[in-house]
Amino acid sequence: MLFKNENNDKINEEQIKLVENAQRRAKQKKILFYHFSLMFFGNISLLTINLLFNFKEQIVFFNYPWSYLAVSFWFLLFSIHTYNVYITNRFMGKNWEKEQIKKLVAKQELKIAKIKIEVEKEARLMAESEIFNQNNSSNCITLIAAASENNVIGNDNKLIWHLSDDLKHFKELTKGHCVIMGRKTFESMPKALPNRTNIIITRKHGYVANDAIVVHSIFEALEKAKEDKQPFIIGGGEIYSQSILLSDRIELTRVHTEFEGDAFFPEIDYKIWNEVSREERFKDEKHNFDFTFIRYNKKQ
Ligand SMILES: NC(=O)c1ccc[n+]([C@@H]2O[C@H](COP(=O)([O-])OP(=O)(O)OC[C@H]3O[C@@H](n4cnc5c(N)ncnc54)[C@H](OP(=O)(O)O)[C@@H]3O)[C@@H](O)[C@H]2O)c1
Repeated sequence: MLFKNENNDKINEEQIKLVENAQRRAKQKKILFYHFSLMFFGNISLLTINLLFNFKEQIVFFNYPWSYLAVSFWFLLFSIHTYNVYITNRFMGKNWEKEQIKKLVAKQELKIAKIKIEVEKEARLMAESEIFNQNNSSNCITLIAAASENNVIGNDNKLIWHLSDDLKHFKELTKGHCVIMGRKTFESMPKALPNRTNIIITRKHGYVANDAIVVHSIFEALEKAKEDKQPFIIGGGEIYSQSILLSDRIELTRVHTEFEGDAFFPEIDYKIWNEVSREERFKDEKHNFDFTFIRYNKKQ
């Protein structure tokens, strides 16, 4: 049977709606046709009465005989009626309204679903970092970086300055420890740093790095470094910004100049970080800029 659902014998509501809609449309068109016929014969009659019988010929509006205006007015009414049937009712009727609302609701639901996913992701990351902090509370995770006054740390995957005392400072602090870095920083160096355990973070599975451990997240990197009492995160910009909240200390060399670059150290939030020491160095034949070694500890 046409209107029965084969599976459960229930009348298919959608089909009923379609039939009802078709009936409604047929009725509207029928009325429009009657209107057209009436207008056609009505207008011919009006013109005939006026032209043949000179009926009330003296009545003139805007320089036109009354019958012309009556015919035009009727034609205008018929045009509105046609517009209503073919445009308003077809495209903007109740069904059209319902469809639009449905589409809007679907869009909003999609947006809400996306926001939910983001919130869940964030919550998972926070939970992971809390668990991590509980498990590694005895380690002093340290970010070590050299940044200009405008927080630039590199350009075109290269360091911008050469400050030999800063290199010495870096070597002294990190010697014998784990050094954790992003894949780009690793590739900016000629080889893995000697006398340190090099840990490289990449999303590329199957990435091979000579004399280094390859991992796929910051948490995995810190897990590999858990035996080290002071693992160092040595860059670059992406890794610093993702790990600054996980860290306990920042060893920052502030280079007192401004540079243009494409890699940045994240803004230090002084509500979280406490400056505990600073040591100034001045420009000389080996150093093109003044710079300061600053240590920040995370506030308890
Ligand atoms: N002045 C300093 O103290 C200092 C120190 C270090 C570096 N730098 C400079 O910093 C620049 C490099 O920094 P950068 O920000 O462009 O790159 P980066 O942080 O060294 O490395 C970025 C790469 O790390 C991987 N990565 C990032 N987040 C990840 C995650 N959550 N999970 C897995 N893998 C992740 C991705 O590798 P894949 O693309 O392989 O997936 C990404 O492309 C260079 O100019 C360098 O010279 C400066």
